[in-house]
Amino acid sequence: MGEMKKAPRDLIDAALAARDKAYAPYSKFHVGAALRTAEGKVIAGCNVENAAYPEGVCAEAGAISAMVLAGETKFDEIVVVGLGDVACTPCGGCRQKIREFTGSDATIFIINDAGETLLTLSREELIPHSFGPENLK
Ligand code: THU
Repeated sequence: MGEMKKAPRDLIDAALAARDKAYAPYSKFHVGAALRTAEGKVIAGCNVENAAYPEGVCAEAGAISAMVLAGETKFDEIVVVGLGDVACTPCGGCRQKIREFTGSDATIFIINDAGETLLTLSREELIPHSFGPENLK
């Protein structure tokens, strides 16, 4: 097996900067995400919680919404950072959201505070046997 691919520097910086903006007064768990669109734009998001707890939005979802607003619907890399050294792996809902806008060749990186890569995942590893737009055809 080859060496684990590391998260790219520009996405690391964007994800860490986004995490600084997180609105997470309830969980106090700050998350940042940054993706690279098919056209090469770097777009980030942070988690945004709510006093009505289930209305909170994950960092990945925020980045995906900003990507769509920017006029794009495909990305090939995403970096996610939570707090501490336990890998902040995307929740089930975010796995499905990532699925919608990626090809099977996409890479998902989970990093720590220091920008070190904790996990490098293919889309199939992130969400095996997924349901996607093709299933509706
Ligand atoms: N959260 C994310 O934003 N992304 C993840 O990948 C995991 C969890 C957020 C949701 C909530 O605001 C906080 O982290 C604690 O669950």
